[in-house]
Amino acid sequence: MLVEQNVALQSHNSFGIVAKARALVRVRGQSDVQQLLADPQWQDIPKFVLGGGSNIVLTGDVKPLVLKVEVPGRRLLDDGARAWVVEAGAGESWHDFVGWTLEHGFAGLENLALIPGSVGASPVQNIGAYGVELQDRFDSLDAIDLHSGKAFTLDAGQCAFGYRDSIFKHMAAKEGDFGLAGRALILRVRFRLPKPWKPVLGYLDLARKMHDSGIREPNARQIYDWVCAIRTAKLPDPAVIGNAGSFFKNPTVTPEQCQDIIAREPNIVHYPMPDGSVKLAAGWLIDACGWKGKSVGNAGVYEKQALVLVNRGGATGGEVVTLARAIQTSVYERFGIRLEPEPVVV
Ligand code: EPU
Repeated sequence: MLVEQNVALQSHNSFGIVAKARALVRVRGQSDVQQLLADPQWQDIPKFVLGGGSNIVLTGDVKPLVLKVEVPGRRLLDDGARAWVVEAGAGESWHDFVGWTLEHGFAGLENLALIPGSVGASPVQNIGAYGVELQDRFDSLDAIDLHSGKAFTLDAGQCAFGYRDSIFKHMAAKEGDFGLAGRALILRVRFRLPKPWKPVLGYLDLARKMHDSGIREPNARQIYDWVCAIRTAKLPDPAVIGNAGSFFKNPTVTPEQCQDIIAREPNIVHYPMPDGSVKLAAGWLIDACGWKGKSVGNAGVYEKQALVLVNRGGATGGEVVTLARAIQTSVYERFGIRLEPEPVVV
């Protein structure tokens, strides 16, 4: 186990913010963590788990010991009558993993193509796009408790998935309480891809692709290609323009609140949800406040999608946070809605 000192993190966060880790350990498996926790020099030091870095805003050097998750591996575990079960190491790139499943004929993750980040971060966020959420394809995961060093397995129910939410985003107030934020390091994730495969095509952008191409029964590879094309047209590539995907969650309101807003803003984009609430498009709210293309210092609002904040080159985490707060204030003042950020500010 090698502890590296003063490691540059710019290439380890998708915003491309310049910051350093005072100390960093690369985790390739359970034994790396157990060794670290057995070492008196490191066992009581605060730790920060870093995956693909696609959902963080670094506002300075990271003082806790950074555990950079690099657990490798992709394999088919079961090819049963009702599903394929596939497993990937937490350090694998999410998009490469989706590509690998399709190359081997295991369909089901195609709507989630091109989401930045690692396999290990996918359940934390319960990533979702174009009508599919990770929880719809999740089987179980293996993780390690950073306090006790014990390995454990969680099923979907135990992960308590919600919209861009899971048990890994909640802090336990005391021992035994709900919440694993800062406490668990995910090692491997397993996915259950149901058979027979059924395409998910309800999302407006995909329906448009079907209509324009004239393809009535697309296969999984075709949907993957469409999703990649839609995302590439709308969202900036983090390798070119630093960003963390959607910066805010889409807020939900009651039907009464929505009617009240529609009376003032007849064009507001809104979607009735199965539970009776109404989801609003945060991108539309931000756009309506005139933020598209605006900047604070070197942090800006992406020209083609107002929900995405970008690093225009040399942005600090402070600039990103200042911009995000200014957006929250103007959306609140105009619509009375508080936008909740998706990324974690470190
Ligand atoms: N809109 C605007 N102006 C904008 C942006 C959006 O008017 O600048 C309107 C669009 O016209 C559309 C609506 O808002 O009617 C929704 O936009 P879009 O279809 O682009 O989806 P989104 O709600 O902005 C969500 C996810 C994305 C995911 C897409 C596709 C969240 C926070 N974001 O975005 O996820 O890719 O749907 O399913 O739920 C991410 O989480 O990082 C992410 C990119």
